[in-house]
Amino acid sequence: MKVCVIGVGYVGLVTGVCLAEVGHNVICVDKEKSKISSLSEGVCPIYEIGLKELIKRNLNEKNITFTSNLTEAIKSQDIIFICVGTPPLPNGKPDLTALDDVSKLIGSCLNGYKIIVNKSTVPIGTAKRVKKIIKENAKEESNKNGSPIFDIVSNPEFLKEGEAVNDAFFPERIVIGSESQKAIEIMKQLYKPIINQDFDYAIKNSKNTRKKIPVIITDSTSSELIKYASNAFLATKISFINEVANICERVGANVVDVTYGMGLDSRIGSKYLKAGIGWGGSCFPKDVRALAFTAEEYGAVASILNAVIQVNNYQRYRIIQKAMDILGIIEDKIIGVLGIAFKPDTDDTREAPSITIINKFLELGAEVKAYDPVIKKCPEEMDDKVIIAKDVYEAVKNADLLILVTEWPEFSDIDFNKVKSEMKRPNIIDGRNMLDKKQLTEIGFNYRGIGI
Ligand code: UGA
Repeated sequence: MKVCVIGVGYVGLVTGVCLAEVGHNVICVDKEKSKISSLSEGVCPIYEIGLKELIKRNLNEKNITFTSNLTEAIKSQDIIFICVGTPPLPNGKPDLTALDDVSKLIGSCLNGYKIIVNKSTVPIGTAKRVKKIIKENAKEESNKNGSPIFDIVSNPEFLKEGEAVNDAFFPERIVIGSESQKAIEIMKQLYKPIINQDFDYAIKNSKNTRKKIPVIITDSTSSELIKYASNAFLATKISFINEVANICERVGANVVDVTYGMGLDSRIGSKYLKAGIGWGGSCFPKDVRALAFTAEEYGAVASILNAVIQVNNYQRYRIIQKAMDILGIIEDKIIGVLGIAFKPDTDDTREAPSITIINKFLELGAEVKAYDPVIKKCPEEMDDKVIIAKDVYEAVKNADLLILVTEWPEFSDIDFNKVKSEMKRPNIIDGRNMLDKKQLTEIGFNYRGIGI
C-alpha cells in the first residue's frame, strides 16, 4: 500500500521504516532538509536499537524514500500519517501549529480518496479538528459518486524509546479509531502483516510463539483517550510506588521486597512498579499534563493526575534532600553523576531527571561531573557549568558524593573498589536501586537507595 509519513521525528521515522519493512511503499517527508539528505544516505538521526539497519535495508530495496517535497508526497500516496511534533506550550497544552499547517496542506492537495492518520499524540478531539481543517481547505467534499474524498483515523503509537522497533513489530495491541468503516478496513489491511505476525522480520526475530495481535476498533475520541490514559496510568503506577518508597524509608521497610510482593498479584503486575528518581522523557510528563489540562478544560476533576505530577516533582527533590542529609552544605562539594539520558538505551534528555537534579546542585554551588555512555555534550536545558566526564572514574574523581541517575546496564560492571579509591568520600545515592547495597556497604560506601 502507498503510505506517506509526515514528520520524521522519533514516531514518524520508526513508523515509516517499520511499515516499509512489512512490505509497503513508504515516502517519509520532513521540512528539515539536512535530516532528509542524511536519511537518504542511510544515516539514522536517533539512537534506537535496530533502526539503522532497517533504514539501510529498506532504502536499498527501494521500499522507502525520504523527501522534503510534501505536496508531491501527499499527492502520490493513499494513506497519510501525520507524525509532526506537538510540543507542550508553557500552560501544558500541546502546540498544534505544525499539525494545523499540515492539515491545511493535505486539504489543498487531495486528488483522490485518502486516509489521514493521526499518529502523533494529539489532544482529545484532534481527529475532528483535523477533519474540519482538511474539509475547509479541500476543493471538493466528496467524489462524483458522493462518497467522502478522505477519512480520518486516530491510530496512537505505544512505542517505548530504546525498544521502539520491537514495539512497532510486536505491539500488544493496535488501536484504530475512526467513524468510517471503509477507513477501518483499509487500516486493517495496512497492518495485516503485523496483526498476523507473518512478515519476515517477525518470523526471524519473534521471541515468543507468534500469535495474532489484538486490534481495537473504536471511535476516534476513545482512541485518542486510550493513548493518554495508558501513559497516565503507567506514570501513576510509578508515582504510586515512589510514594510507597518514601513511606518505606520512614517505617524501615524495603520497597524492593514490597514491590515484589505486590507485583506477583496478577491484578497489580510488576511492570512500571520500580521505585526511583521518577519518570521523565518526552511522553509521560507531556501526556499526564495534557490529560489533566483537558480534564480541567472540560470541567472534570483531575485530582489523581495532579497528584501523580506532584509526587514525581517531589521525587527529584528527594535526591537533593538526601544529598543535603549526607553532605550538609552543598556549596563547593564535588558531585559525580552517572547517567544523563532520561532512561537507558536512548540519547533522549527531554524532561530527564538529570537536568533538574544537576541544575539544582549547580545552583547550590556544587561542582558537578556527569558521565553518560551515550550523551557526550551538555543538553540544552542543563546549566553548562556541568563537566561532562569521559568515563565513570573521571566523574567520581575527588567527589564527595556519587549519584546514579540512569540505570544504564554497564553501570553494573563498575569497579567500585576503584571508584572508592578515586572519591574523596565514599557516599553514594542509587537513584534507581540498581546497585548491590550489601556489596557497596562491605566495600565501605555510605549507600542510600530509594525506599531501601
Ligand atoms: C512511554 C510509554 O511507555 C510508551 O508506551 C509510549 O508509547 C511512549 O511513552 C509515548 O507516549 O510515545 P517512553 O517515554 O519511551 O515510553 O519511556 P518508558 O520506558 O515508558 O519510561 C518512562 C519513564 O518512566 C522513564 O523516565 C523511566 O525511567 C520511568 N520508569 C519506568 C520508572 O521510573 N519506573 C518504572 O518502573 C518504569
